[in-house]
Amino acid sequence: MATPHIGAELGDFAPAVLMPGDPKRAERMAGQLLKDAKLVTSVRNVLGFTGAVAAGEHAGKPLSIMASGMGMPSIAIYSTELFRFYGVERIVRVGTAGGISPKVAVGDVVIGFGAHSTSSMNEARLVGAHFSAVADLPMAAAAWAAAAGDPHVFAGAILSEDHFYFKQPGWLEPLVAHGVLAVEMEAACLYGVAAEHGKAALAVLTVSDHLTTGTHANMSAEERESNFQAALRLALAAAFA
Ligand code: HPA
Repeated sequence: MATPHIGAELGDFAPAVLMPGDPKRAERMAGQLLKDAKLVTSVRNVLGFTGAVAAGEHAGKPLSIMASGMGMPSIAIYSTELFRFYGVERIVRVGTAGGISPKVAVGDVVIGFGAHSTSSMNEARLVGAHFSAVADLPMAAAAWAAAAGDPHVFAGAILSEDHFYFKQPGWLEPLVAHGVLAVEMEAACLYGVAAEHGKAALAVLTVSDHLTTGTHANMSAEERESNFQAALRLALAAAFA
């Protein structure tokens, strides 16, 4: 029963999916997190794996890990097919973001509770009203609870943008003034697709660079890995909320 972009059979995906942008990261995460991981799709090299959580609090629970590619059209395609055709119930985007708020620093984790957007992808959803792209509350609450007061974890508004490089003059200050924590390129659309299908989604983002302080991720490999592990722990809590 392959769909246009996913070459898997019905039943190949778990109800919960972790979704990094990068297919290679999906493969590494599957190797690290899953026992008996099976490659269930590789159309366009966008890899998807299913197995059981190998260890820890959620050991034995079925989990899929599949890449989204970059940008809102890409995550819209994969999340729509997973929700609509493969019985997926919850998607957690695990990715990186550029810091905006002076409160957050490179290496911190941002839970995207709501997502503003420069994209038109949610504009057609409601008639005469702007769509509010919000995360699933139980998933966000589970991630927040798992953070247990860690001062390096933030929850709030993010911006999902279409352009990585092009910025309109004056774009940054209003974002800072409105308390936007970070920018990335997928969450608002993922939240829209989840709402469309009556399903649940959340983005858990590691700050990889900072657009107002100009800092970049010149972290050691160990720091990078431990930051990512912290984000993964929150993502798993949300996946099984
Ligand atoms: N823009 C969009 N997405 C990102 C950025 C950014 O500056 N940094 C990391 N992901």
